[in-house]
Amino acid sequence: MAKKILVAGGAGYIGSHVQKQLLEEGFEVLVFDDLSSGDEVNILPQAEFIRGNILDKPVLEMAMSEGIDGVVHLAAKKAVGESMVNPELYAENNLAGSINILNAMVKYGVKHIVFSSSAAVYGMPEYVPIDEKHPIAPINYYGYTKRAIEENMEWYAKLGKLDYAALRYFNAVGYAADKSITGRERNPQNLMPIIMEAATGKREKFAIFGNDYDTPDGTCVRDYVHVSDLAKAHTAAMKKLMADGKSFTVNLGTGKGTSVKEIVEACEKVIGRKLNYDYAARRAGDPAKLTANADKAKELLGWKPQYTDVEDIIRTVWNLEI
Ligand code: UFG
Repeated sequence: MAKKILVAGGAGYIGSHVQKQLLEEGFEVLVFDDLSSGDEVNILPQAEFIRGNILDKPVLEMAMSEGIDGVVHLAAKKAVGESMVNPELYAENNLAGSINILNAMVKYGVKHIVFSSSAAVYGMPEYVPIDEKHPIAPINYYGYTKRAIEENMEWYAKLGKLDYAALRYFNAVGYAADKSITGRERNPQNLMPIIMEAATGKREKFAIFGNDYDTPDGTCVRDYVHVSDLAKAHTAAMKKLMADGKSFTVNLGTGKGTSVKEIVEACEKVIGRKLNYDYAARRAGDPAKLTANADKAKELLGWKPQYTDVEDIIRTVWNLEI
């Protein structure tokens, strides 16, 4: 019988791609989402949907009692800057909300959770590429919330309550190549959707934050990983937990660094015209270079990103606009 997965945050940008991948691999999917930042158009017809907030325990427990075999939890606030001015919001959603999910799982005997974590748990890189042994020292409240839930899952696993996979994403970009996921993020904070808003006239121009970093072209270097590749790591992680029940934590990135300037130039090439942007001051808290060593994900999950070329990645985004 098909296993049923509750995807908390399944209408969001990464969650909707996870939902799609689970369905394609034969899982049943129950999307649990309050649509505060996710979009109903992202919920595929084959998925069940409960509109609910993870802070609403009765609704969450009702969903968890629906014969769930595993949970993928991506229902979280993720704007780093906002987390530093309004940590209360992040404490409530990312800490209390996640604890509600874990406790509802324990209550209904759901054993496996794949958790959406972040490279933000590492803080300022001491070396790159970053492996999972790199010191943990988040420099923003958002990163702290991700680490705190990882630690809580470690405890619950030690106490025999559940098993977990913590997936530390680097920079998620792209959209499903078949255009089945169309909901764009509202009020985006990240580079790629901001460039797309400038390209489609939703905003007049954008800024490159800093061109005096110690990098080849002076702009920040990041590890951009396609969201469909990320989604595949979630299904692989869930299958592994279901097979051996051994908890683990892995980085998800390509290992390849791309600068902001290179991203902008690649976007201009794909779109076929120049974009309107300025150079602006550095953004607080940005490391010059952040790339992943994802060897552990490869070893444990056989995970290998299919998208390695940024232009291919950008095409999956631009194709939604044309
Ligand atoms: N950038 C610009 N202009 C913009 C937006 C971003 O130049 O308008 C630059 C940033 O300064 C950075 C790069 O583009 O150098 C990427 O920025 P993003 O905001 O897209 O992504 P970050 O690398 O800052 O953050 C990502 C995730 C976070 C996560 C972090 C982990 O979005 O959730 O990686 O370190 F915490």
